[in-house]
Amino acid sequence: MSLSRRHFLRNTSASAVAIPLLLNANIDYCEAATMDTSYGLSMGFPEDAIRLNWNENTLGPSPLALEGAKAGLADAYRYALGGLLTPFLAEHHGISKDWILMGTGSTELQRLAPATHLKEGGNVVSSSETWAGGLRVAEHMGIAVKRVNLIENQDYAYDIDGLLAAVDSKTQLFIMVTPNNPTGTSLTYVELKRIADALPKHVLFVIDEAYTDYLPDDWGDGIDLIKEGYENVLVTRTFSKAHGMAGLRCGYGVAHPDILKNIKKFGCGPASTNIVAFGAVQGALNDLEHAKRSRAYVQKSRAYYQQQCKKLGLKTISGPSPFTLIKMGDRTSSLHQSLKDRKILVGNGKSWNAPNYLRVSYGREKENQAFFKELKKLL
Ligand SMILES: Cc1ncc(COP(=O)(O)O)c(C=O)c1O
Repeated sequence: MSLSRRHFLRNTSASAVAIPLLLNANIDYCEAATMDTSYGLSMGFPEDAIRLNWNENTLGPSPLALEGAKAGLADAYRYALGGLLTPFLAEHHGISKDWILMGTGSTELQRLAPATHLKEGGNVVSSSETWAGGLRVAEHMGIAVKRVNLIENQDYAYDIDGLLAAVDSKTQLFIMVTPNNPTGTSLTYVELKRIADALPKHVLFVIDEAYTDYLPDDWGDGIDLIKEGYENVLVTRTFSKAHGMAGLRCGYGVAHPDILKNIKKFGCGPASTNIVAFGAVQGALNDLEHAKRSRAYVQKSRAYYQQQCKKLGLKTISGPSPFTLIKMGDRTSSLHQSLKDRKILVGNGKSWNAPNYLRVSYGREKENQAFFKELKKLL
């Protein structure tokens, strides 16, 4: 399989006919997102379940990513060398390829950062109400994790003063998720820079940007910090969310090569990217408009959720990311179960230290409507 983008585009010229048709027909969901389920692809959930629990992108991958995936699938007997994708990402981000490392989803990098950077006696600083991929590893290692609450009465804003005050001489890792899962809280570039400036240089500042494609184009992010010369910053990105490729398990980290070298000692090896993802990533990078379509769909869904929750008198917390927290108070767990009994799967906020909330990932329009129809009956 050639790595030349021009060659790739030439090879996928058949899809060039299909794309405008798909889009002009105003079809929200790609062919893969509505595929035949006779292969048991429902992952243990009932076939007809409405799955609003895992922050998946129901638009699915871009048609070009699908073409790339199909090309990869035909070569499934081969190993792929994920490192050969880094020139494309380097071009995309305007950074040298040595500063990029591919992983089996961004989770691989998030989990390896503590494993490679923490030493006995150290500690990690992060937030309470957040996705804890890396924090769990630190806990399993017996490392102290200092979690600082988000500010509830300010729409769950990050308590940056509190987070920085928690940093002490033993702190080795500082982890932030922006936009956050489950609250959608997003750090501005100025806030990220403030944190980076305040942290001692030996502290690795890990920024999980899984949902960054849902932010406005000019938002500013952790990769900008790295380009500015901060050598203790690791940013993780993924193709799972706005690119709609969660099942292909492809993410990457951006950091100074010495940080990546350390991570590579323990994982993110040459074969961490599978060959289907290898083709799909090239397709996705040739159709960046797809991530913008995902963003527009999320904005539309968010407005719908806000409107419906307002009608029901329910308080919500949400940001640019593809889900909303809905305040249910004491009824959270029982509603979670009752919805599950009706084959509607949502997240229970207790998984992210937000026990009074259900986290509902935006699904297809009909699924969102079905969720509210059932919720109304249960309230
Ligand atoms: C904040 C955050 N980071 C990382 C991930 C996992 O991403 P990936 O699929 O790239 O491993 C998730 C998944 O929901 C997430 O919410």
